[in-house]
Amino acid sequence: MILDQLRLRFLEAVKDFYVDVSGNFDLVRPSQDVRFGDYQSNIAMPFAKRLSRNPREVAGEIVSRLKVDDICESVEVAGAGFINMALSESFLAAQVCKVFSDVVGLGISLVGRRRFIVDYSGPNVAKPMHVGHLRSTVLGNAITRMLRFRGHDVITDNHLGDWGTQFGMIIFGYKNYLDVDLYNRQPVEELSRIYRLVRGKMDAGDVEVSAAALRETAKLHEGDADNLKIWREVMPYSMDEIDLIYKRLGVMFDYTLGESFYHPLLSGVVDDLVKRGIACETDGAIGIFFDGSDVPMLIRKKDGAFLYGTTDIATILYRMREFKPDVILYLTDFRQSLHFEQLFKAAKLMGIEGVEFSHVKFGAVLGEDGKPFKTRSGDTVGLNGLLDEAERRALEVVKASGRLDLAEAEYDEVARRVGIGGIIYADLSQNRESDYVFSYDKMLALNGNTAAYMQYAYARVRSIFSKGNIDVDKFRSKLTAENFKPQLKTLAERMLALEIVRFGDAIDFAIKDYRPNLLTAYLYDLANKYSTFFEQCPVLRAENELTKNARLMLCDLTATTLKKGLELLGIKTVEKM
Ligand code: ARG
Repeated sequence: MILDQLRLRFLEAVKDFYVDVSGNFDLVRPSQDVRFGDYQSNIAMPFAKRLSRNPREVAGEIVSRLKVDDICESVEVAGAGFINMALSESFLAAQVCKVFSDVVGLGISLVGRRRFIVDYSGPNVAKPMHVGHLRSTVLGNAITRMLRFRGHDVITDNHLGDWGTQFGMIIFGYKNYLDVDLYNRQPVEELSRIYRLVRGKMDAGDVEVSAAALRETAKLHEGDADNLKIWREVMPYSMDEIDLIYKRLGVMFDYTLGESFYHPLLSGVVDDLVKRGIACETDGAIGIFFDGSDVPMLIRKKDGAFLYGTTDIATILYRMREFKPDVILYLTDFRQSLHFEQLFKAAKLMGIEGVEFSHVKFGAVLGEDGKPFKTRSGDTVGLNGLLDEAERRALEVVKASGRLDLAEAEYDEVARRVGIGGIIYADLSQNRESDYVFSYDKMLALNGNTAAYMQYAYARVRSIFSKGNIDVDKFRSKLTAENFKPQLKTLAERMLALEIVRFGDAIDFAIKDYRPNLLTAYLYDLANKYSTFFEQCPVLRAENELTKNARLMLCDLTATTLKKGLELLGIKTVEKM
C-alpha cells in the first residue's frame, strides 16, 4: 500500500541521519487538503526540536535524502517545515492497475498475522436484548470482518449472560405465575410476561418477591435439580429469539461460551487466587486489591455468590489455555470501564503475559428526546421489533423514491437490505465513544452519510454496465495492452483513482484503534469522488475506446470497493436500486 511504501522510504531517508527515529510520530499521512499534495509528512518538526535547529532546514535535508522518484512527481517543503508530496500520474495509474488485477483482494497485501479473540454481543439471555447489545454486535462484527480481511486470525466468542439473576426471576415467575396454556403456544411471549411481572413487583419494592427470586438464583447456582430443569427448558426459547436477530444481521460466532459454561470453574479460581495471595478477605467477602486504590474487585460475595468479574477471570484463564491469543477485545458500553480496568489489572497480578487486552468501549443509544432509547410503553425496545420497523420504513422510502421498477418480491429484499443496513451503518458511522440519537428518518435517508446512499451509489455505478450492455466479467478479462491504458487526465479522474487506491490504508486506520467510522467516512468520500467524476467525465460516451475503457475500469473499481467496504461493515449491497 502506498502509505507503507512511503513510510519505508522515509525511514530509509532518516535512518542514520539523526540519533533517534523511534517514537510515536506519523512519518507520513494522507493530506487533508489537495493543496498540500496527496501525502504529507511533519517528521521534520520533532527532529528539529530535538536538534534545536530550524525545521524547514531539517525538512530540506530529509527531502534531499528521500528517494521517491518512482512514486512522486513532486516533493516540496512548505510552511513551517512540512513535506508535501504529490504522486506521479504513472505511479498512481500503475497502482490502480494493480488493484484492478486483484479484484477480490483489491491489491491489499496481508499483514503479520496476530490472533485476536473478539468478545462481543453478550446479551443477557431471558431478558429482552436491547439496543446496547445491538451496538456491541454491530461493532464487533465489523471489527472482526476488517481484522480477518487484513489477514489476522480472529476467534469470535459470544460471552452470553446466561446465568445471572434474571433466571431467579424467571424461575420464580415460572413456579408461581406461569399460564401454561399461553406458554405452550407462545413460550417467548409468556416468559417475557412473567419476567416483566416479577421485575415489576421487585421494582415496586416487594421485598418478599425480591428475596424469593434471589433464592431461586442461588438454588440454580447450587445445582438444584428443579431449577436447572427450568433453566434448560427456557434457554432454547430465548436463544431462538436471539439467533433470529443474528441471522437478520448476518452475524455468526465461532464460540458461544456463556457465563454458565464457566460456573464449575469459579470456586477453584477463587481458592487459587486466595492461595497465591492475590485475593484476600474483606468484610466477609473476597476481593482483589490493587496498588494505589482502595476499591477492590470483589470475586466472591459474603453470601458465597460469585460475580461478573469472577467469571471474567475464569474466562481469561480458559482463553489463554485454549486459544493462546495475542489480543483480546471486549465490546461493551463505557459503563463497564471500571470493571475492565480492574479485570486487566487482575490479569497482570495473576502473571498473565504476552496478551494485549482492550476494552473497546462505546456510548449510549439515545431516543430523539435525548434520553436512553426506549419505546413508548417505557420498556426497552425489543430488537426484532426494531429491525421490523426499519424494514417497514425502508420499503416506504424505497417505494416513494420512485427510482425503482421492481417486482414486489424484489422490493422486499431491497427493503430488508436497506432497512437492516441503515441500522448497522448509522451505528458504525458514529465515533463509537459518543452517544448517538436513534432516528429512523436519518438512518434511512437516501442522501447523506447513510447506508441507503452508499447502496444507491453502488447500484448506480453498476447500472452503467447494464446500460452499456457490458458484461463485467468479460470486460475485466478482455482488457489488453491495445485497448486499455489507464488515464488520469482530469482532476476528477485523478481524485477518484487516489481514493480507490487508499482503501487498504482506510482499513488499517479503522483497525488501528477499532474505529469502523473511519471506514464509513472513507466510503462516503469515495462515493462523493465518484459523483464528481460521473458528473464531469462521460463514460459510455467517452471520446474514444481507450478513454471509455479507462473510465469503466474506475467505475468497476469504485463498485468493487464500495461493495467490499460495506461487506466488511456487515452490510449487503443491492444490484438495482
Ligand atoms: N452480558 C454482558 C452485558 O450485558 C456483556 C458481556 C461482555 N463480555 C464480557 N466478557 N464481560 O453487559
